[in-house]
Amino acid sequence: MSPLQTIGIICFVIITLWLGVQITVLNTCLHAKRHVPTNLHILCQKEENYLLLRVFDLVKNEPQCTKLVKTLQKSVNAYDSRPRIFIVTPTYARPVQKAELTRLSHTLLLVPNIHWIVIEDSENKTSLVTNFLSKSRISFTHLNVPTPLPMKMKKEDPNWLKPRGVLQRNAGLSWIRKHVDPEEQGVVYFADDDNTYDLDLFEEMRYTQTVSVWPVGLVGGLMVEKPLVENGKVVGWNTVWKADRPFPIDMAGFAVNVSLLIHHRRAAFSLAVARGYQESKLLGDLVTINHLEPKADNCTKVLVWHTRTEYPKLKQERKLSVPSNVGIEV
Ligand code: UGA
Ligand code: MN
Repeated sequence: MSPLQTIGIICFVIITLWLGVQITVLNTCLHAKRHVPTNLHILCQKEENYLLLRVFDLVKNEPQCTKLVKTLQKSVNAYDSRPRIFIVTPTYARPVQKAELTRLSHTLLLVPNIHWIVIEDSENKTSLVTNFLSKSRISFTHLNVPTPLPMKMKKEDPNWLKPRGVLQRNAGLSWIRKHVDPEEQGVVYFADDDNTYDLDLFEEMRYTQTVSVWPVGLVGGLMVEKPLVENGKVVGWNTVWKADRPFPIDMAGFAVNVSLLIHHRRAAFSLAVARGYQESKLLGDLVTINHLEPKADNCTKVLVWHTRTEYPKLKQERKLSVPSNVGIEV
């Protein structure tokens, strides 16, 4: 074989190999284009919280790393362009408290860019809630304020049945006014610890400009209580229970723009209003019906349910001389 032929064969082999590689690469690209979803960045955004959770899980026994990941989570939240949701939750000690908080926290873990303000109805912060929050992996603030006892005990007048969460939500509002930048894009939502929340609800409320409203399931003696909407405007309500309320809506059925709340410094809940009028008190301090923004497809979808947990049967417990939960938190 002449040297020219040898060079020729070598060149042929190299070119064939090179072409082979090129075709494989091209094929992979074509394949990728067909099979990699075009909305990859949207998927990544959805997965972001889940990924952080995974990272937390991996480093949970490394205190140094946990600190680092918490800082990372803060910066992820800070750089998140979506408005932040401040979730205000009053809570009080009873047998189902930890179960309720666990369930709610698992919903909130799936919602990006939130800050959870949990206010205990108690003289002091309890170790149950303190420990629960510190392991919750959610960005939180822990506050406490007791409901005055005489208020809780005014049982003779049905309208005055113990006020639930009133001072606690006000404490949440004060914290927000003190710590949140009035120009921050965000929204405040009053999420009781026992309701059931669809994840879509949080994305509906996130871009609230003034006050947004939507239907609430299983409340007010109805399957659903909802704002009535005509041409994209709230024109009334389908409420039956205390229908004369200025805003006949449940606490779970609205969210407020954070700047609006901060700028209306006196807007608050009040111990001086009758049962069922808390929502009207706060909303009356902030807006009129014309300002309301209907969400959830013009109030045609139920994304939150006013579920209430049955009080557990503890008949056997009362017979015990030593409680079953000595030394074990339930
Ligand atoms: C309904 C509304 O959905 C509540 O938002 C409203 O506060 C309440 O009526 C009322 O004003 O009476 P309901 O299911 O009857 O709710 O009330 P709860 O779920 O028992 O309490 C509302 C919130 O306040 C819960 O997060 C609960 O943990 C808290 N709460 C309740 C306290 O902080 N202290 C209490 O003594 C009782
Ligand atoms: Mn409730």
